[in-house]
Amino acid sequence: MKVAHEIVTPKHLSKRLDVDKVRADFPILKQKIHGKPLVYLDNGATSQKPQVVVEALNRYYTAENSNIHRGVHFLSEQATAAYEAARQKIKRFVNARSEQEIIFVRGTTEAINLVAQSYGRTFLKPGDEIIVSAMEHHSNIVPWQILCEQTGARLRVIPINHDGELVLDEYRRLLSQKTKLVSVTHVSNALGTIVPVKEMVHLAHERQVPVLVDGAQAVPHLKVDVQELDCDFYAFSGHKLFGPTGVGILYGRLELLDAMPPYQGGGDMISLVTFEKTHYNVLPYKFEAGTPHIAGGIGLGAAIDYLEGLEWQQVTAHEHALLTYATAALTDIKGLRIIGTAKEKVGVVSFVFDHIHAHDVGTILDQEGVAVRAGHHCAMPVMQRFGVPATTRASFALYNTRHEIDILVKGIQRALEVFA
Ligand SMILES: Cc1ncc(COP(=O)(O)O)c(C=O)c1O
Repeated sequence: MKVAHEIVTPKHLSKRLDVDKVRADFPILKQKIHGKPLVYLDNGATSQKPQVVVEALNRYYTAENSNIHRGVHFLSEQATAAYEAARQKIKRFVNARSEQEIIFVRGTTEAINLVAQSYGRTFLKPGDEIIVSAMEHHSNIVPWQILCEQTGARLRVIPINHDGELVLDEYRRLLSQKTKLVSVTHVSNALGTIVPVKEMVHLAHERQVPVLVDGAQAVPHLKVDVQELDCDFYAFSGHKLFGPTGVGILYGRLELLDAMPPYQGGGDMISLVTFEKTHYNVLPYKFEAGTPHIAGGIGLGAAIDYLEGLEWQQVTAHEHALLTYATAALTDIKGLRIIGTAKEKVGVVSFVFDHIHAHDVGTILDQEGVAVRAGHHCAMPVMQRFGVPATTRASFALYNTRHEIDILVKGIQRALEVFA
């Protein structure tokens, strides 16, 4: 197997991602907005969907719709097979050891809440500490604050430096006998920083502390291998990975998931119910109460099939070139300050002007057909760290082009004229 991976012909390496072909797979990109071609640079919020994902959803509702796991009839068996096949694809995609480690949830937010409420409430007690970082999305802060209120545990925060990188020495200092869990993002949604999670997991494991990685912004850009990272939990959302909204994944190490009680009670998560005692279902169903987002799971499987049909090295090379190009082009704009200048970055350029509010920049860009995000990006502590109320954020996906970045730059220059 190893050998097969290593045989890469020079011809293959020299091939670039065929972006025109990729763009043709995403029908929404052909649209005009305010009479201008859509330039979609809000991929950090949600990515667009390839036609194959739309077709998978369509096919499911047109020909396969049925509830899963409980039916004995043809459609139910077919829907169950398709849903479980999607779980297998996701298992392979993140290289989990077993499909029992792949839990379907609504998204990253629900995955983190699941761990906080199930693992956290079972194993944390007053005085214990949970470490997060100063660059977390609110969904990797608030569930832990709720848990702290419930258990008497305390939240500790790894600071970030002026480039938007984690201060690892501070992390080492924060890790102690009291630490019972570390929960960090893999890639910052506000800054684009790639966090050295493998090293952080290693440091935590030296103290037998489990680590949750918030992979919401990582999976669309990086090849994620949960065994290589050696993390204990890995959370991500389908909708940022070219799949449907309302579906996401919690990967959990089998031993930990086994030791955790259910997060929610209901149908499908049981094996036997009596009024005296209920026996829970095996993994992963123990954590999947109620009818899930069946079409969403199947759609996410289709998104993964789509990605696996592309050459990952070409995708990452293309995205790296885009980010480099965008960073250089924006740096040239007078008065523009990039927030987040980490050495290891992916997918995001956030910026501010001293005299123009991010929302105003976003509104002018919208008139030019350019979709960006302006605000605090659900990461208010990051804004506080950099002393800004908001940033304008351009976030990229594999279908974006240099030409689109040129349009972004022109739009920013127009905003500068308007607010001169
Ligand atoms: C880093 C990060 N974590 C978590 C989330 C929450 O994801 P969702 O709203 O899909 O649950 C996001 C969404 O932007 C994110 O960027």
